[in-house]
Amino acid sequence: MAKWTAADLPDMTGRTVVITGAGSGIGLIAARELGRVGARVVLGVRDTGKGRRAISGMRGAFEIRRLDVADLSSVRRFVQAWDGPLDVLINNAGVMDIPAARTADGFDVQTATNYTGPFVLTNLLLPHLTDRVVSVTSGLHRQSKLNVDDVDWRARKYHRMNAYRDSKLALVLFSLELQRRLDASGCSVRSVLAHPGIATTTLAAHSRANVINRFAFLINDPEHGALPLLYAATQNVPGNAYVGPDGLAAIKGHPAVGKPARIGLDAAKARRLWQATVALTGVGR
Ligand SMILES: NC(=O)c1ccc[n+]([C@@H]2O[C@H](COP(=O)([O-])OP(=O)(O)OC[C@H]3O[C@@H](n4cnc5c(N)ncnc54)[C@H](OP(=O)(O)O)[C@@H]3O)[C@@H](O)[C@H]2O)c1
Repeated sequence: MAKWTAADLPDMTGRTVVITGAGSGIGLIAARELGRVGARVVLGVRDTGKGRRAISGMRGAFEIRRLDVADLSSVRRFVQAWDGPLDVLINNAGVMDIPAARTADGFDVQTATNYTGPFVLTNLLLPHLTDRVVSVTSGLHRQSKLNVDDVDWRARKYHRMNAYRDSKLALVLFSLELQRRLDASGCSVRSVLAHPGIATTTLAAHSRANVINRFAFLINDPEHGALPLLYAATQNVPGNAYVGPDGLAAIKGHPAVGKPARIGLDAAKARRLWQATVALTGVGR
């Protein structure tokens, strides 16, 4: 059977998509492709000038709006300015392996960008959502030893890569718990996970993992890295699907529905994480 590519995207005319962190990397490619097939695409970016430069030359209905997902006041402003239905939210913004730093709200920057911010954004946008939320995780969630009692790295010595792994497992637990809650309330909105495998973007810029770009032939180029997001955002996958590359160890290839780590399926842990995140952010219940 032919592999799924962006050429298989359906017509998205009349549909509105928000993609966070879409000024570069796989988010920008996903934005370009969704715009190409007719969607109105809102790129939520922290640097609007950079965002505008990124979309210059792209054909479609694109809007650049300021959104720093790690800053809760920015998230609130973005949501307050939102008017009308939103078909698809793609929680794509992310950072990896960065030095310890705290946000204006006092949260760990890596955790706030990859998990806490998307938790708040999704919860606040939920009343507008009509179709689905796609949360972009990483295969590295499999190596996480997430401490639900210290999600925000206040009690332990910060570890750059563990904070990344933990934030991506937290996103898996969140996405699947959200689906349980949507099901319980009879809501038809879907919560879906996607991961790009490993793709040659600037994500590893801060990282010793940057060495990986020397082995580019073994991993996805950014165009292929964007395919799982596009598939998860547009295909008839069930809520709670986990979409990633179909190649060896889900590192490279074309999109297929796979399975997250077993620890990601732990509903009791997900509930505890949800409550801890509500307590931390004051958003959700
Ligand atoms: N590439 C991979 O191999 C890989 C593997 C697994 C998962 N992922 C995930 O895929 C997603 C996209 O990453 P990528 O590979 O495309 O990397 P990227 O090129 O570095 O893109 C990340 C994007 O996130 C944005 N961003 C960072 N912090 C933000 C914030 N506080 N608010 C709003 N936007 C913010 C960045 O914006 P600026 O331009 O302002 O920095 C950038 O546009 C991430 O969630 C990442 O964890 C990637």
